[in-house]
Formats: sequence, structure tokens, C-alpha cells
Amino acid sequence: MYAARRYLMCPPEYFRITYSINPWMDPAKPVDVPLAVAQWESLRDRFRSLGHTVDELVPRPELPDMVYAANGATVVDGRVLGARFAHPERMGEARVHRAWYEEQGFGDVREPQHINEGEGDFAVTASWLLAGRGFRSSPLSHPEAQEFFGRPVIGLDLVDPRFYHLDTALAVLDDTRDDAVMYYPAAFSPGSRAVLAGLFPDAVLAEEADALALGLNAVSDGHHVLLPQAAQGLFEPLRQRGYEPVPVDLTELLKGGGSVKCCTAELRG
Ligand code: ARG
Repeated sequence: MYAARRYLMCPPEYFRITYSINPWMDPAKPVDVPLAVAQWESLRDRFRSLGHTVDELVPRPELPDMVYAANGATVVDGRVLGARFAHPERMGEARVHRAWYEEQGFGDVREPQHINEGEGDFAVTASWLLAGRGFRSSPLSHPEAQEFFGRPVIGLDLVDPRFYHLDTALAVLDDTRDDAVMYYPAAFSPGSRAVLAGLFPDAVLAEEADALALGLNAVSDGHHVLLPQAAQGLFEPLRQRGYEPVPVDLTELLKGGGSVKCCTAELRG
């Protein structure tokens, strides 16, 4: 059983690597834009064929990272906590996202005080927010999100620059529960690893190769788990827990340091 979701995506027609703000980005490696668009469209169409709704944000040529729509806001119970980006190259995206939510009639759209990169660092379970810090989102964004959403925030320290956002190292598999995630332990500090082990004894633990394929940058509707096709090692453990892995080819988007989840914001409630 799974429920229909509403997602927000932004097409990569202006996706380029013109700067480097994470270890994946190399401006010397050109992006094949038509291929990026084709891969992105097949992800969008896959969501639609599963019965989900995908809204599209109009991309801006001066904001090449806009394709990573998950970073623009966090939406829970219909309330929208906007983003505040860590790097000047992406700062302009925050306002575009807030304006879109306002136009769509979302009631409570908040401009945050502290740096948070949306669902890049916030993951939503049935009753909690899991929140990353260390590279992008400020630790001060955690109490800010807790106050705004009225949900407990569990802070997690990221320690490996290749996994600079929480959503590169952890994915929620079933958001009707508080115990269904997959993650890559080595991306977290020892204390955060202990917290994760305590909260999620049945988690799928990723090996380094699958984490490096950005296999944890996945979107689950509670049954289908859309993830990079190269992350083969995750498929069987997911199947054993009753999920259906849906492999997706987003290799061009990997050049910017993102995959399925980075391209997909979820509009909850
Ligand atoms: N180039 C983008 C950045 O470094 C990639 C963002 C990926 N998004 C994500 N949700 N992890 O900001």
C-alpha cells in the first residue's frame, strides 16, 4: 500500500557546472544538457506513471543548480519553511521557491533566519524531522524548524564532505513510521551513528560503493524506492523489507552532486 504524493521538480535546461561548491562538481567536466534533460524527464514521467503528481518550477538561466529542487524549502502539513542557502551562487533560489509556494496558495510560507538547505538537510518521518548539519545547514536551523513545525528535530552531524547534505547519506523509506530508513554510517560522526543505531535498529545500511553512487539519494512513496541504478547493493536489502526498488539513470545530475532525491521536493499535506 502506498499513497499518491505531490512533488515539485525543476527541469535542467540551464543545468551547468560553472562553479564548485561540493567535491562532486568539476567545472572542467562538461554537462551533456540534452542527456540531463532526457534523464530528468524520465524520472518525472516515472513518478507520474506511479500515480504521483509532479509540479514544475520554471528554471532560471542564472541559477544552474535549480534542478536540485529539494533544496528550496521543506513542506510538512502544508506549512512551508523556506531555504537560506550557504553559498552565494545558490542564494537566489530561495526567493523563487517562496514565491512559487505563495502563488500556489500555501498558507504559511516562512523565510528562515538561519541557513537551511531544505530537504537537502531535513528528512521527515511519521513524527520527527531528522536534520543534518556540518556542511550546509546551520545547527541553529534545527530549533528554528522544530519551532515552526512543532515536531521534534533530531540533529545529525555529517563528517564526510562527499556526503555534504543529509539526503546524500540517509533516506526515509516509509514516512508513516518512525523506524524505516536506509543510511551510510561512515557519513556521520560517532555520536550520530550511535543515535541512528538506537533509533533505527532495522535500517538498511549502505556500503561505500552504493553511497558513492548516491544510492541513498532516493525517494520512497512507502512502497516504490526510486534510486540510482548503479546502487545495486541496496536493491536486495530493500526487497527483503518489502519495498520495490525502481532504478533510475541520472548520471548527468551526479556531476553536480545530486540524484533522485535532490531533484525532488515533496509537498506534504
Ligand atoms: N550542486 C548542488 C549543491 O552543491 C547539489 C545539490 C544537491 N541537492 C541535494 N538535495 N543534496 O548545492
